[in-house]
Amino acid sequence: MAKRNSSSKSVTKRTPKVEALPQAAAAPDLNEEEVSSSPSKPRAVGEESAVAKRVLRSRSVTKKKQEVEAQPQEEEEEEESSSPRKRRAEEEESEMAKLKSRSKSVTEKKRRVEEQPQAAAPKEEEESSSPRRAVEKKDDDEEDSRFVGEPVPDLEARQRWPKRYEEKGKVIKSKDESDEIILARRHYTQAEVDGQILYNLYDDAHVKAPEGMPSYIGKIVEMFEAVDGGFYFTAQWYYRAEDTVIQNCHNLIDNKRVFYSEIQNDNPLDCLIEKLTIARIPLDVDPANRTIPNCDYYCDMLYLLPYSTFVKLPTEERHSSCEASSTISCECDMNGTEQEEDFKVQDHSKTEVSLLDLYSGCGAMSTGLCLGANLFGLHLVTRWAVDLNRYACESLRLNHPETEVRNESAEDFLLLLEEWEKLCCYFSLLKSDAVPQVYADLFVADDGDGSDEDNNNDEADDEDGEVFEVEKILGICYGDPNETKQRELYLKVRWKGYGADEDTWEPIMGLGNCVKTIKEFVTNGYRSKVLPLPGDVDVICGGPPCQGISGFNRFRNKENPLDDDKNKQLIVYMNLVQHLKPRYVLMENVVDLVKFANGFLGRYALGRLIGMNYQVRMGMMAAGAYGLPQFRMRVFLWGAQPTENLPQFPLPTHDVVVRGVIPLEFEKNTVAHDEGHNLKLEEKLLLKDAISDLPAVENNECRDEMPYSGPPQTEFQKLIRLGRDELLGLPKQEPLECVLYDHRPLALNNDDYERVCEIPQKKGANFRDLPGVRICSDSNKNKVEWDPDVERVYLKSGKPLVPDYAMSFVNGTSSKPFARLWWDETVPTVVTRAEPHNQAILHPVQNRVLTIRENARLQGFPDCYKLCGPVKERYIQVGNAVAVPVARALGYALGSAFQGSSGVNEPVFRLPPKFPNISGVCSSAASEDDA
Ligand SMILES: C[S@@+](CC[C@H](N)C(=O)[O-])C[C@H]1O[C@@H](n2cnc3c(N)ncnc32)[C@H](O)[C@@H]1O
Repeated sequence: MAKRNSSSKSVTKRTPKVEALPQAAAAPDLNEEEVSSSPSKPRAVGEESAVAKRVLRSRSVTKKKQEVEAQPQEEEEEEESSSPRKRRAEEEESEMAKLKSRSKSVTEKKRRVEEQPQAAAPKEEEESSSPRRAVEKKDDDEEDSRFVGEPVPDLEARQRWPKRYEEKGKVIKSKDESDEIILARRHYTQAEVDGQILYNLYDDAHVKAPEGMPSYIGKIVEMFEAVDGGFYFTAQWYYRAEDTVIQNCHNLIDNKRVFYSEIQNDNPLDCLIEKLTIARIPLDVDPANRTIPNCDYYCDMLYLLPYSTFVKLPTEERHSSCEASSTISCECDMNGTEQEEDFKVQDHSKTEVSLLDLYSGCGAMSTGLCLGANLFGLHLVTRWAVDLNRYACESLRLNHPETEVRNESAEDFLLLLEEWEKLCCYFSLLKSDAVPQVYADLFVADDGDGSDEDNNNDEADDEDGEVFEVEKILGICYGDPNETKQRELYLKVRWKGYGADEDTWEPIMGLGNCVKTIKEFVTNGYRSKVLPLPGDVDVICGGPPCQGISGFNRFRNKENPLDDDKNKQLIVYMNLVQHLKPRYVLMENVVDLVKFANGFLGRYALGRLIGMNYQVRMGMMAAGAYGLPQFRMRVFLWGAQPTENLPQFPLPTHDVVVRGVIPLEFEKNTVAHDEGHNLKLEEKLLLKDAISDLPAVENNECRDEMPYSGPPQTEFQKLIRLGRDELLGLPKQEPLECVLYDHRPLALNNDDYERVCEIPQKKGANFRDLPGVRICSDSNKNKVEWDPDVERVYLKSGKPLVPDYAMSFVNGTSSKPFARLWWDETVPTVVTRAEPHNQAILHPVQNRVLTIRENARLQGFPDCYKLCGPVKERYIQVGNAVAVPVARALGYALGSAFQGSSGVNEPVFRLPPKFPNISGVCSSAASEDDA
């Protein structure tokens, strides 16, 4: 709220600055260059123009901080590396840069006026009415635009638009030197343009755009005569989808749909082209509930630039006496008052709120979300999880016995859900308009609802004519479980007289005479919600893998990223959202999502959700900022149904400088405190904080479980050792087992082990410390070369101590091969491979790579989270995970939104002090027990 007010104020303030720009009329989204170079190409509103300026500043801040934090392994570990926190000041600056570009209209129009000296003089009769005085003062050529009717009474005008009347006698300053608002002599509520169209205050209208561009769309929120005699209106802009962050994915949005913004600026009156009817309609995810009236455009959402936010419109528009700042802000109190009806605080602590984790991996994201939501008092439970990787599924099952874990592809899961819905309809468990034909045909002998038991004949013939009887249906899947290249719906059958070993997957199409058994299975499954039906899922979370955008993939399809099969999971994910219509969505992905192909996939994701009428908000979060010694930047996208409160992003709790190349346009989406905030953040965490209490293990350690060797030494270690109940903020139920899981490394082969033993145990050590390697004397690039004075050293196997690949990695400029981490470092990103050849992954003082548990700690997995599968697979699960503390903070935000207690349109919020240890469960006493 405050933000909107202040940003719109600054908008007003800076508008007239852009006085002398050429040609185009009000340009919501063009910077100078764009106007001149590609006048006909619409641009994303205000975002690019904004950024160029802002970035210069944020970079320099970052740079300074980064210098301080420079670490030996920083150069190429993370592709993403750079700018720090986004600041609200920058956001505003960004908006203003954009506004300045819009405000070209003022300049341009004025210029045009000057260029047309022979335009007709005001008409006589106009001069006799009261607005005529204003007209009299205008240039001749402006004669066909004038205010009509009485001006707004002076006192009222001063109350409604106080800034316009602040300093008597001030005039618009010329060109770029002015930061002043255009001062008004008087305000009006009606104007006539082109001698014929009568505009009223708050009318919607097309506004002149540069040559070749579609007209802009604005609401007239002020009409005034300036102290210099100029006639102006203030437009508050609507954005077409292509002018928003959605850009070239605008075809996902109906082209009559526009998004109201809080961006305003002043324009000469005769930039108005024509009146429009823009219908304001309620947002609804069910298209059946929406009728679009006959209109030029319709609008059901606000587009707020911070965090690329789209939210439903405030409940009611009221033009009271507080227009001075923004019509949006005064329409209703976005932070609460008018919205209270929609967002009553509810107690969800008892009722289970269901979560579906897609591409769940071993379940870190959903685990964190549930922990965070429960800390807020929302009883969020992962009811279903889907992943292609069987070991990841095993891990999830082990740690979440309450979850229905499905080891299948998301695309098969979607097809399964569609069939499941049809089966539920067929057996009359769900209402439907028509009996699904495919099952009506299959169960042809049946009477249509599967209830005719006489027709049940649960037998199947095999090829030899032997008859088997179906005893029970045990499971259902879509796909090709028998690898027969036949993809369809299968049921898992227990045969009468046979045991579990003889269970088989049978195509449902061959079980047409087993209607009774199938009905029983479907009915039970429906009751226990073995599979979710549309409306059953409260929250969907997950990160669809988009390997087609990875920087490591040389064959990336930049032109059409969605044509690349490796990116199709994004479509599948959105199709699942479309099918299930959850109340909330949280999508996670790598920053490449908004980097690759000008952020096409990020725009697509936003566009799909908005196309489905979800409210959305996008933020980039660095794991380290939530209490981990790891940077790890990821993109998160919230979606919320119109009936819900769109969750906010939790602000960092720890003082970590964000690194990573974020595209300029999305830099403002980085979740960070405003510059100059006076909060005391926690110190950033270091490797030592996370792992110093773990027992020493050898390279060949093969125990999956072992005892701790001592008590926790840091707050982090106390917290990470807590049991499940305590993590949920509940009192400890029973003494913890005190078993340490997965503290074993991927064993180095003999050659690598020999090499690692030679790497000194000191900060910054790596292959460069081995004999025969030296830094090129004539290179300022820190490049390595062989030292001609040192004979090459060989291992017992005959292989060289320093392998060639280490010397040539990143052209000899990398110090990562065989690099040790050090105790005082923050690691860039925990990855899925535990190879020391091209990444810093060696323990500071032990001759091995970090163990699975050490990596898990860097990702914030609680120690009680045990992983399954071969060692390499466990590393993959950990490296793939969403850092648990980030997910936990997001879960807390979700809890707050769910309970209706978060600020409706504030994009970010502060977590409570000491989060997540808000109830003090992590006391010294607890830690002593745990030891
Ligand atoms: C980045 S990981 C997800 C990590 C998870 N969100 C967590 O926090 O632990 C992506 C997962 O997608 C799974 N996956 C890849 N393609 C899939 C598909 N077509 N259907 C389902 N899962 C898939 C992979 O097995 C992997 O576990």
